[in-house]
Order: sequence, then structure tokens, then C-alpha cells
Amino acid sequence: MPGNSSSPPIYPFLKWAGGKSQLLDNIVGCMPEDFGTYFEPFLGGGALFFRLVSMGKVRRAILSDLNRDLINCYVVVRDELDALISRLEYYQKYVGAKDFFYEVARPSFNKIRLKNGLEKNVEKAALLIYLNKTCFNGLYRVNSKGEFNVPWGRYDSPSLFDEANLRAVSRALDQRWVEIMCCDYREAVKLARAGDLVYFDPPYQPLSRTSSFTQYTPDSFSEEDQRALAEAFRDLDGRGCKVVMSNSSSPLVEGLYRDYISRGQFRVAMAARAISCLGDGRGRIPEYIIFNYPMPRNQ
Ligand SMILES: C[S@@+](CC[C@H](N)C(=O)[O-])C[C@H]1O[C@@H](n2cnc3c(N)ncnc32)[C@H](O)[C@@H]1O
Repeated sequence: MPGNSSSPPIYPFLKWAGGKSQLLDNIVGCMPEDFGTYFEPFLGGGALFFRLVSMGKVRRAILSDLNRDLINCYVVVRDELDALISRLEYYQKYVGAKDFFYEVARPSFNKIRLKNGLEKNVEKAALLIYLNKTCFNGLYRVNSKGEFNVPWGRYDSPSLFDEANLRAVSRALDQRWVEIMCCDYREAVKLARAGDLVYFDPPYQPLSRTSSFTQYTPDSFSEEDQRALAEAFRDLDGRGCKVVMSNSSSPLVEGLYRDYISRGQFRVAMAARAISCLGDGRGRIPEYIIFNYPMPRNQ
């Protein structure tokens, strides 16, 4: 797989809610020294994957997410890069145009319906990147009909893409090393074997009812989903996989992973997050990184 410490670091080509960019150093510090295939089944913007590739640490990877629009975009970046760049150059002319956002980009995006996320629909991918960089906070949110409904973000002239980075992303996704799937995380991790590394970055359990945003897909991530995820974590642990998860420091999470926490198999990192229960809507809050292997020696 390409990528080593002498090339410029690769970074996510989308902004994604819950993006891990600010916690990367903490999470990388918790990674095991050696592992087989790398699994990231709540891919989002893929910040950790791109960091690990940049460090030359990934030999083979399986990347997946339930969001079809997102996965289509990854597959297009991998296989249809020149066609995508040409559409992005066209949309770049309209980044400051509120009317274009509401009257052309959003309706055109919503008109294209994907069946499985693996269609390689270049137009849908270009529109997702356009909306992601021009909408409010780069959010992805759909209504009950599956229509993207995030408002315009009022940015003056955002850049839709960095061509050198996008080309590096495309190389990092090469099918010889990376498999991209559109599926529930449980389906993806069925493929994990002893010695493989699974990084779970689920939609976070809210600290309070209103404090967090988990509506990434039509189905949000409930308390039940957090319980099922903890079972999947234990199942992978029992199969000899290395498992690491980031999540909020909510009482539910503390309860579900109490045994790992009591053995010291965790770190706490502080992250700046939008939190509606704080006056200005932003604050630094503690988040957990929980893992099932001994802390790497150099930590
Ligand atoms: C916190 S975000 C991941 C952020 C990502 N690590 C980053 O750096 O941008 C969670 C992701 O999980 C996906 N997701 C939600 N429920 C899922 C499920 N049941 N299976 C797989 N992916 C799911 C969402 O579509 C979203 O992209």
C-alpha cells in the first residue's frame, strides 16, 4: 500500500460529523504496534485510516459505512477520479451562490437515488462534495423521505477539493489493498480474523438527550445499538482480534466497557465539540478511547 512518513500526510476529503482529526494523535498513540487487516466499519471521513496510511502502517484494509451516498463517493474517488475532478471544477464556480445551493445542487442530489452505494455515480459524488463543503458545518442529514435537508452554510469561497490530496486518497483506496463495502458494521467485521485490527467510531452515545447529533442515516444510533456494539466488541475480542473504539464518556458507555476500563485499557482525550447544553454551543469534553490489548510499550 502507498504512503509512508516521507510523503505529505493524506487527509479526509469530506468534513464529517464526529470527525476524528483533533483526536488523531491520541488514538494513534493507542494503536497496537502490529496488526493484520485494518477494519474501519464506521468510516465517515476516514481520518484515522488516512493518518495510518500516511504513516505506512496499513497493509490491507476493509472500509465500510452504512451511508450509501458516502460510500458511492469513496468508490468514485477510487475509480472515476478524472471525471469527478472535472465535475468539481464546474461546481467550484458556484460555491458562493446560495440560489444554486437551494435550487440546483440540493434538488439534483436528492433526485439521484442509489440502490447499494457501489454504483460509481460521479454526479452524486460531486454533488455530495459540493454540499458537504458549502452546507452548514458540513453536516449530512436527511429527512424521513431520505432527502438531504441541511441549510446553506454562508461560506464565502470554500475550496471543494485539493487535487493533490484527492489523488493521494484515490491511490490509498487502491483495490489491491483496500476493500470498500456499504453495509452495517456487523456484516463488515464478520470478515475479521485473529490478529486483525478493528477501529469502531460509532455515532456517539449522547451525554444528555439534546447534547449530541446522531442522525447520520435515516436510522439513528440508539442505546440498544450501543449495547449491540459492545457485544460485537466482546465477540471480536473473543476471536483474537485487536479492537479499539472511540466513544463519549457517558454513563452507558462506562457501564458497557467497565471491565476494560477497570484493567486500564482506555485513555481519555479532550475534544472540542458542538454541545447544545452549553451556552455558546461549543466546549471541550472528555471522550473515551477503549481497547482490548495491552497498552503499546512506547506509551
Ligand atoms: C462518528 S461517524 C464516523 C466519523 C469518522 N471516524 C471520521 O473521522 O470522520 C459515524 C459513522 O457511522 C455510520 N453508521 C451509523 N450507523 C451505522 C451502522 N449500523 N453500521 C455502519 N455504519 C454506521 C454513519 O453513517 C457515520 O458515517
